[in-house]
Amino acid sequence: MKATALAHPNIALVKYWGKRDDALILPHQSSLSLTLAPLSVTTTVEFGAGSEQVEINGHHAKGSERERVLRVLEAVRAETGGKLGPARMVSRGDFPAAAGLASSAAGFAALAVAARAAAGLPEDPKAASLLSRLGSGSACRSVQGGFCEWLRGERPDGTDSYAVQRFDAGHWPELRMVVAILNRDEKEVKSRDGMKHTVETSPYYAAWVKDAEAEVPRAVELIQRKDLQALGELAERNAWRMHSTALAANPPLCYLHANTLELIEHLREQRKKGMPVWFTLDAGPNPVLLTDAAHEVVAEALALACGAADVVRCVPGGDAVLKSEHLF
Ligand code: PMV
Repeated sequence: MKATALAHPNIALVKYWGKRDDALILPHQSSLSLTLAPLSVTTTVEFGAGSEQVEINGHHAKGSERERVLRVLEAVRAETGGKLGPARMVSRGDFPAAAGLASSAAGFAALAVAARAAAGLPEDPKAASLLSRLGSGSACRSVQGGFCEWLRGERPDGTDSYAVQRFDAGHWPELRMVVAILNRDEKEVKSRDGMKHTVETSPYYAAWVKDAEAEVPRAVELIQRKDLQALGELAERNAWRMHSTALAANPPLCYLHANTLELIEHLREQRKKGMPVWFTLDAGPNPVLLTDAAHEVVAEALALACGAADVVRCVPGGDAVLKSEHLF
């Protein structure tokens, strides 16, 4: 009745930005991401506790964070016929939360895998992906490693909206992602609020959806060919388009800081000198640099020179896995 899982976050190369169903967390468009190691979240779940207990990074979770966890646990109880009692969940991550890095993605992927195992359900990446989506959309792309595509799906009940692995972590081992932490503060507007506001008020939203959907198969083809330059260019233009759509909302939504732009400007200069480095940017000020193993140290130095407080070098990560050591 107790199980523990570890999952990695992911960074989208083609972003998800906007829901067609807020309750079921169904996106308007498909998206594609790369799982990032060594960053990870570990989660232990035990059913049969006296009352529901949700502890994240040493704090009792409150508000919507707690509700989202309880929702995932409730879905597992429903799947097993409602016989499982209240659950205790303890989760611990090893990277800064809510700073533009998808800590919630790793957290809900680990929760889904651990909760299913604790309930005695078989390992099933599709079922875990569907379950994790109920906590956080991008989490459905962290159940499996490597490059995962979240299929938009068509059905109103969301049963066809989950992530599939396009290439595993071993497909492109030389690929590197360097997370430049320019600002550790929690962002003012969370992704879920920001995307809702964008869907409701940005006149560019329909164009964003059409464009992003079309970019996914192109990105898959470039990953297949391991074409870093073309993939880097695609990731950059997709990030710009997501941020432009948000900037066009009313009132405008700007996640970029002055030093985000400064770093982006430097990347452009370095590329002119022949360095293979591009960026992507989630809903936060911290760019993630895309490069290869031969250039990751230079990319790190570049981020530090532009004022990054911290830099995390990442490699393609593997699947979420069950662990034998528990957090309680
Ligand atoms: O799944 P959420 O609610 O954390 O939203 C993620 C949104 C972005 O990180 C900006 C894009 C993405 O596809 O991960």
